[in-house]
Amino acid sequence: MNRPVLKDSFGRAITYLRLSITDRCNLRCFYCMPQAQFNWMPPEHILRFEEIIQIVRVLARIGIKKVRLTGGEPLVRKDALNLIKSVSSLEGIKKICLTTNGILLAEMAKDLFETGLRHINISLDTLKPEKFETITGRDFFKSVWHGIENCLNLGFDPIKINFVMMKGKNDDEITEFARLTQKYPLEVRFIEFMPIGEMSKWKKDLFISSDEAKALIEKEVDRLTPLERKVGAGPADLYSFNNSPGKIGFISPLSHKFCSSCNRIRIRADGRLRLCLFSDQEIDLLGLIRRGISDRELTEFFIDAINKKPAKYLENSLHIPSCKRQMSTIGG
Ligand code: GTP
Ligand code: 5AD
Ligand code: SF4
Repeated sequence: MNRPVLKDSFGRAITYLRLSITDRCNLRCFYCMPQAQFNWMPPEHILRFEEIIQIVRVLARIGIKKVRLTGGEPLVRKDALNLIKSVSSLEGIKKICLTTNGILLAEMAKDLFETGLRHINISLDTLKPEKFETITGRDFFKSVWHGIENCLNLGFDPIKINFVMMKGKNDDEITEFARLTQKYPLEVRFIEFMPIGEMSKWKKDLFISSDEAKALIEKEVDRLTPLERKVGAGPADLYSFNNSPGKIGFISPLSHKFCSSCNRIRIRADGRLRLCLFSDQEIDLLGLIRRGISDRELTEFFIDAINKKPAKYLENSLHIPSCKRQMSTIGG
């Protein structure tokens, strides 16, 4: 059956839902979750299993094809595996993906594979155990690397590594991460550091653009060949080295805005719909769901909401986008 394509008021087809299933996390990355003064969402405010299923079922009927589960750390939610299974079996959902910090993959990769999940993105900003602890607040480098090896052995495809570039913190490892793609079938993505959250640690001095990283990689490692962008793909511009099993991606929200091809909406774990990563305009879904909204009414709600999606992020006086909510409550 051909499903309707949901378009926003700028004609962009909205096919991708980023669904945060918890704000909890087993790491404390300094740029994502402030060490002090954060309050977890109260458990009773978290969307329950059946509530999530109703939401995705309705969205799948009006054009959402790809769902990415995010967090916090999605794998700390007890019913994460069942959610993956149930969401992916909903009619219309063609692709289910997960963004994880990788810690629990050492023990959960096999079970995840058995749910049918194949698309996995793993955050990793350093290959040095000590630096890992400095960035994330915890000494778990070995578990993450073990988890990545498990995923490679099991045959997850694609496996994407998310590397957030920060000058003076991990830019000395850009070439080493690029070289990983010469050895493994990994897609390593160099992500521009974004100012997210009221207490964001973002500073101009920490920022490295994708162009700088690409120039460094081409100078120190090898020439990169651009790869074709697939329809409905995420925000990365893809390249590869000759004769390499892996790929290199650059995600450049600050230096090369990609809002004109934006195809996504986000739902936080507490049921707040975010129409743009950087916009704090949120629409509450939890109240509607708990009042017993019908599928038909929920469909109308989403059509109406998606019409309000902004054209692009807004910049402040320094020409930098930002938002108040911290990343751990949005999911990236
Ligand atoms: P793929 O579908 O595998 O390409 O994944 P993805 O890149 O959409 O998801 P992932 O969770 O791995 O996010 C990688 C990085 O891209 C994170 O830093 C996200 O915050 C960022 N990102 C994802 N979508 C958007 C977006 O719409 N706008 C902006 N500004 N950043 C985004
Ligand atoms: N800028 C860019 N990427 C970020 N992430 C978290 N915070 C930021 C930020 N401020 C990345 C994480 C994870 C993904 C969900 O978003 O590293 O891979
Ligand atoms: Fe879409 Fe907002 Fe990201 Fe731009 S910043 S691509 S509009 S979510």
